Amino acid sequence: MYSEKTPIIQHAETPKIKLNDGRKIPVIGFGTWKIPIEVAAGQVDQAIELGFSHIDTAQAYRNETEAGQAIRESGLSRDEIWVTTKWSGLDGKGPRQSAEESLEKLGLKYIDLLLIHHPRLANGDIPAAWAEFEKLQADGLVKSIGVSNFEIEDLKILLKDAKVKPVLNQILFHPYVYSSKAPLIEFLAENDIAFEAYSGLIPLTSRPGGPADKPVDAIANRLSIAPEQVLLAWVIAHSGIPITTSSKAERVKNYLQVPFIKLTKEDVASIDAAGKKGEEVGGAKWYASRFALGGLIGLSGVVAFRQVCGF
Ligand SMILES: NC(=O)c1ccc[n+]([C@@H]2O[C@H](COP(=O)([O-])OP(=O)(O)OC[C@H]3O[C@@H](n4cnc5c(N)ncnc54)[C@H](OP(=O)(O)O)[C@@H]3O)[C@@H](O)[C@H]2O)c1
Repeated sequence: MYSEKTPIIQHAETPKIKLNDGRKIPVIGFGTWKIPIEVAAGQVDQAIELGFSHIDTAQAYRNETEAGQAIRESGLSRDEIWVTTKWSGLDGKGPRQSAEESLEKLGLKYIDLLLIHHPRLANGDIPAAWAEFEKLQADGLVKSIGVSNFEIEDLKILLKDAKVKPVLNQILFHPYVYSSKAPLIEFLAENDIAFEAYSGLIPLTSRPGGPADKPVDAIANRLSIAPEQVLLAWVIAHSGIPITTSSKAERVKNYLQVPFIKLTKEDVASIDAAGKKGEEVGGAKWYASRFALGGLIGLSGVVAFRQVCGF
């Protein structure tokens, strides 16, 4: 499974998905959340060196400078690498100030995709925040604009007045939230909005021993691949764009093979069914109860969502 022989993917080999603004995004991305500053440049450099052409960062991750260093020193031309960052509302900064600072830290002339990190950042006025995003796009600071952690109601509010549709919504998506996210996924598809899936490896990282292990391990054994590859292939089978990360070279190489792994309908259905079984604990309901608990013990909503969203 982890072998020095795992081939290295060339950047242009990663398949791309066409977004509703006509631009094409590589179907798997490498994220920088929780990577400490002192190793961030090295880990992003390793990911790009091994073939990643899609980097996902955020104002809140506080390592845009290091990610930018690795991107600039990669030797790739600007159009060979896709860079997403997010307006996270840090220090009360608005979208334009955040985008300008991101550009400076990344050392880039434009951002491929800028996301509203969470709907609560709009302080109850999603249309106004989105209008600022549309202006950033019109002014050429960003090529594509999108959202993250938006629910159906948030999207309906945004779409009512939007001149430009978000190209995608970056959301928590793994087997243990699969059934509760299904209406959102359907709404996105109906509106030609793609989705990116973060924390897709939760069945391995924070919930090992859950019901998804059995089908995931069985598929991994049958195809002689790693369980994390099965889970990321499951995301792609649901038309999602997985955003993942790793400090380990062999895992990074394995991730890049994922777009070429074909799961059967039965494989996908077996993980869906196991995910549903595990939804009661550790899935959406579990997160919802965490938020509720946050309210009860006096944490602000912002602090509670930051625990899940990475800042
Ligand atoms: N928009 C948002 O609100 C939001 C929220 C969270 C995340 N994100 C984005 O999504 C990215 C990925 O998030 P994530 O870290 O939660 O994703 P993930 O893909 O679920 O987890 C990645 C982690 O899994 C570990 N891992 C891989 N295979 C494993 C295995 N077999 N057993 C145990 N651990 C394993 C890796 O550790 P090793 O280093 O040991 O390989 C790595 O740290 C972030 O960096 C960020 O860019 C966005």
